[in-house]
Amino acid sequence: MNNKQGFVVNCALGALFLGVSLSVSADGDPESGQQLSMKGDGSGAPCMACHGPNGEGNAAGAFPYIAGMNEQYLYRQLKAYQTSDRNNAVMSMNIDNFSDQQLQDIAAYYASLDKPTSTAESANSGLIKQGERLVNVGDWDNYIPPCSTCHGPNNRGVDENFPGIAGQHSSYIKQQINAWKSGNRKTDKVQLMEAVAKRLSDEQIEAVSAYLASIPAAE
Ligand code: HEC
Ligand code: HEC
Repeated sequence: MNNKQGFVVNCALGALFLGVSLSVSADGDPESGQQLSMKGDGSGAPCMACHGPNGEGNAAGAFPYIAGMNEQYLYRQLKAYQTSDRNNAVMSMNIDNFSDQQLQDIAAYYASLDKPTSTAESANSGLIKQGERLVNVGDWDNYIPPCSTCHGPNNRGVDENFPGIAGQHSSYIKQQINAWKSGNRKTDKVQLMEAVAKRLSDEQIEAVSAYLASIPAAE
């Protein structure tokens, strides 16, 4: 088996492992979550101050859209800021006082909202073309599989393990890929994203972020 085949097999095994190991059932109360999202955790700001009144996020601040994402995925990410598997000074301080049940409720609330339909960003068309190719075809010379093999049809996500990345703000996508590269994000138990991130050049990161931000998050 050559390196390239080895990497593909590893990805497939990793995906299988994630699917089996990370399925936890949760039981959040969206109404309580909505209250908590407006009040904040006592020391931080209300969620909407950064993520917007409908969870649509904000490109200028690299605040991701969080509306309509999978409930378990959201819960796991919120927990990761508490345990420092994700390190971000702007975000972590807003949730550090919430209990597990409160995080679960907040996750249920944002999961119940519709994904934003109008976040699409524009960018240089050459960059978008380059990004489109990387996202849908990959760059096999550098062992980069198409993002869509894991992130699903139209990159809109599959279950609680593979988040939708279509229509996400480019500033935030860039920040995440760089967080994996630098070790600031370790949420990915089997390192699927770390492996991808480390193979992407700065130019490729610009390109995939520009393309993904230009396509709709949902129908
Ligand atoms: C002061 C601004 C700010 C506030 C207030 C804030 N956030 Fe965030 N949030 C951010 C930033 C910046 C990021 C991206 C951080 C990073 O790079 O990991 C983020 C990331 C997230 C993510 C990760 C999304 C993903 O796709 O993985 C979730 C979930 C989230 N925030 C939920 C919340 C909730 C719930 C609240 C309210 C309790 C909240 N945030 C309050 C700025 C904020
Ligand atoms: C082998 C599978 C795989 C491939 C290929 C892959 N990803 Fe991922 N990606 C993941 C997993 C798994 C996660 C969730 C990590 C976690 O649990 O925090 C993720 C998360 C992300 C996130 C964070 C989303 C959020 O809301 O915080 C971004 C951004 C991302 N991937 C971008 C990309 C891009 C761009 C590509 C293509 C260049 C790509 N991914 C290819 C598996 C993959």
